[in-house]
Amino acid sequence: MTNNNPIGVFDSGIGGTSIWSAIHDLLPNEKTIYLADSKNAPYGQKSKEEIVALSKKNVEFLLENNCKLIVVACNTATTNAIFELRADYDVPFVGIEPAIKPAANNSQTQVIGILATKGTLNSELFNKTAEMFQNTKIIEQVGYGLVQLIEDGNLYSPEMTQLLESYLQPMIEANIDYLVLGCSHYPYLIPQIKKILPDHIKIIDSGEAVARQTKNLLQDKVGFSESTDNDPIFYVNSDPKVLESILEYKYPVIKKDF
Ligand code: DGL
Repeated sequence: MTNNNPIGVFDSGIGGTSIWSAIHDLLPNEKTIYLADSKNAPYGQKSKEEIVALSKKNVEFLLENNCKLIVVACNTATTNAIFELRADYDVPFVGIEPAIKPAANNSQTQVIGILATKGTLNSELFNKTAEMFQNTKIIEQVGYGLVQLIEDGNLYSPEMTQLLESYLQPMIEANIDYLVLGCSHYPYLIPQIKKILPDHIKIIDSGEAVARQTKNLLQDKVGFSESTDNDPIFYVNSDPKVLESILEYKYPVIKKDF
């Protein structure tokens, strides 16, 4: 099955590029369009209604650009809006949720930590999933302030280190052996997080799982691209400089209102 249309990927900002990278690595022949809604970031503190409205706006822009499949590269948007998106649009969606299952299933201490936004941790979808793991103690922590610091390009600031220490220290004391990164911005914090966590605590995120699921959907339902035009397109609706730097200046970024 062939389908040369692009895959659309969106996030509240630049963090979803961690998911985009996993997709691009697994499916290098696919054309991708990435939307960073940085003007409206962070989503994590917004109401469900606001998150649904912003997600629909992003989807409509991607559909105007003929996307054949849309990846919601944002845990907050997935856990608050994926049902509404699937109900309103025919295009297939892949969402991202905190990887509780592999952490809970592999934990030796039966204690795991989850760092995510308030919107994700308060969502019905997240809480339903968490309830399925009654034998595991889940230490939930809202990553207040982290997304904003990343969006502002302050990844390595003393303020970042201080916030991370305050969020992770109680988890270390509670004896977690897995830390789940439940926000697509947080993989960019792994070097700083590793400096705080003891070596035996494993860090997991959902990037590769999302890429595999995207590939399966292309295979089973949508079709792979055979076009040679596969240069990715990045759109951002605020200052492009942080997105350019997180992409290590490898790709052009277009500033556009959407
Ligand atoms: N990348 C989004 C997520 O995965 C960030 C949320 C936000 O904008 O607060 O949840």
